Amino acid sequence: MRAMPLALPYLEEAQQGLVRHFGLTRFRPGQDQVISSVMSGRNTVVVMPTGAGKSLCYQLPATLLPGLTLVVSPLIALMKDQVEALTARGIAATFINSSLSDLERAERMRRLRAREYKLLYVAPERFRSLSFLETLSTVGVDLFAVDEAHCISQWGHDFRPDYAMLGQVRKRLRPPRTVALTATATPEVRADIIRILLMKDPQEFAMGFDRPNLFLGKQEVGGDQDRYAACARLAALGGSGIIYCSTRRAAEGVFSELHGKGLKAVLYHAGMEDDARRRAQDTFMSTKDAVAVATNAFGMGIDKPDIRFVAHANIPRAVEAYYQEIGRAGRDGGDARAVLLFNHADVYTQERLIQSSHPSEAVFGDVWNVLQSVEEFERGVYALAGTVNASEFEVSAALRILEREGKIERGGRGEGEHGITLTEKALAAHPHSPDAQRLLKSLLETFPVGRQATTELPILARRTGLSVDEVRHALSLLEKSGAAKVRRPFSGRSIRALERVPFRELELDLSRVREQERQNLQLLRRMTEYAYTDRDKRCRRGAILRYFGQRDVGASCGNCDVCTPEKMPVLLAGGPAASSRSRGSSSAAAPPVTSYSELASTELRRWRKDLARDLGVAPFIIFNDATLLGLSAALPIDRESFLAVKGTGESRWERFGPKVVEICLMARAAGHEPQAVPATPPRVRKARVRRSA
Ligand SMILES: Nc1ncnc2c1ncn2[C@@H]1O[C@H](COP(=O)(O)OP(=O)(O)OP(=O)(O)O)[C@@H](O)[C@H]1O
Ligand SMILES: [Mg+2]
Ligand SMILES: [Zn+2]
Repeated sequence: MRAMPLALPYLEEAQQGLVRHFGLTRFRPGQDQVISSVMSGRNTVVVMPTGAGKSLCYQLPATLLPGLTLVVSPLIALMKDQVEALTARGIAATFINSSLSDLERAERMRRLRAREYKLLYVAPERFRSLSFLETLSTVGVDLFAVDEAHCISQWGHDFRPDYAMLGQVRKRLRPPRTVALTATATPEVRADIIRILLMKDPQEFAMGFDRPNLFLGKQEVGGDQDRYAACARLAALGGSGIIYCSTRRAAEGVFSELHGKGLKAVLYHAGMEDDARRRAQDTFMSTKDAVAVATNAFGMGIDKPDIRFVAHANIPRAVEAYYQEIGRAGRDGGDARAVLLFNHADVYTQERLIQSSHPSEAVFGDVWNVLQSVEEFERGVYALAGTVNASEFEVSAALRILEREGKIERGGRGEGEHGITLTEKALAAHPHSPDAQRLLKSLLETFPVGRQATTELPILARRTGLSVDEVRHALSLLEKSGAAKVRRPFSGRSIRALERVPFRELELDLSRVREQERQNLQLLRRMTEYAYTDRDKRCRRGAILRYFGQRDVGASCGNCDVCTPEKMPVLLAGGPAASSRSRGSSSAAAPPVTSYSELASTELRRWRKDLARDLGVAPFIIFNDATLLGLSAALPIDRESFLAVKGTGESRWERFGPKVVEICLMARAAGHEPQAVPATPPRVRKARVRRSA
């Protein structure tokens, strides 16, 4: 970056705005140049590390420019926080998204047309609405800001198809300046951003990615017990921290380990209710020395300055994601640690996750057929997965894609939206009930005839002065008289197909799904390479910086487990193997220690649990625990070796053999070796991976 701050155009105004609107005194590195470029009417691409202060790069210009700043942002939750913060500073900002009822949205559109806002946040999906685009063209956009711009690129770790349409949107709106911002751009992604947004000759700013205060390290772990123990040791070193886990199960495992050791922590994962999540986040933010154990749903926009460590209990899916997540540590400039816990088997697990989130055509077909056979599938994803005999994970992924492609719709979580369509009859109707009369009058004032509009009963209650129950009753009277068609709230679990066609005729481009899968696997491979940088004694920081396209990278950073191994905290007594050994015999209550592939046993257990649920039987009916352990030790890959395990038998081979073999092949591919004691419950031998529960 150039260093001529005094010569920057608009700097004085910007400096004043910084103090007046944001109550800040000084720009952070790079902000002044970016803001100056934006104010000068240049198209600008900004790559700045997490937490460097990208938002200000469009928020401050928004307060200086005469017209509207339109901000495209991927997450509804983030929009809300940002808008609240801006509003609290007296800056007229709002968002328009699907979480609003039609009435609320209409109100915001009205205020938008009246040019009452300085900033408007939207998700890219909003541009599918032509009338929205039309309104924006009329109002005019002074600054078009694309936040989290890496979502535009298939090469990014967070590709969103709607982002890819933003170039066309820009063409249509012709904003005098555009700014695209991201924390995670490799050279490919950066090129994609410029290409897809159709930006001619943009000014590019790439801030140094380095976070020198962040120690980078890796700890090899044998299995889950090692993993949990290492997390607990790290947490016990003190300070706030985040422990990222790739699955909810792992998060729960780490969480209970910390609790067992008397360490305070909050748990945060996608399966929790919004409320509980919000509470966990609040506790984390407001507590000194707080530890959060979380799936990667946590932390987007987390801005706690005193985070001293970030651990990854499992390998994350991409270097971009990893760097973003560890970037939450040490924001106050103080020393912080980022430790990746690594076991090669995790890579296979992560691969399977990627594959499951890109389901096969067969899964799509089966899901589609079930949805065709009913008006509405009301029993939720879990039951649907059982019906089509696929994993819940795969089915969720298929549904997500079908929804994105506009083929199905799903009930919003806990949203009480009614769809109301007034008919021609409404114009001439004279309901007997005064409540119904009053409601009808109000509906006719705001809702178009013949087109469905959505709203919530409390809003109607407010507008009519009736109680919610009275509104409900009045609405059903109008429905009975034929004046209105009412679609009741679509419950959170419901799923319905929007077309009635056989799967073959459904236009669904699965090649994109396959391509996406391939790229995700590629990103994972590069993350795996990062994990192994210590093998050839290469500096870990250098590996990351080069990944992000930085050229001038020194050979040694002085702050990673390769350059300065003495700084790596001891997380497992005597390394993973030794620690397993010592623990194996220490617990009196533990069952006889066995030697088997933990990966296989975990996978077999999970499969057994799902299958048992589907079949409506107890898990031990499929295989009892001893047999399951026997299989995890022998890792059979054919009929003969399968039958050699006690408790199997011919009929089980026929019914479950293929799945068991699949799992064992995976474990073998992960380097787990079969143990030569299949006929009886396995006894102690050379432990590859063990656990004591
Ligand atoms: N010049 C400044 N002085 C002091 N604090 C600042 C300054 N600029 C930004 N901040 C603060 O830094 C924090 C992080 O900013 P912001 O959320 O914009 O980061 P970001 O770069 O968008 O990160 P992410 O990639 O996580 O979205 C915010 O709390 C913001 O108020
Ligand atoms: Mg940001
Ligand atoms: Zn180094």
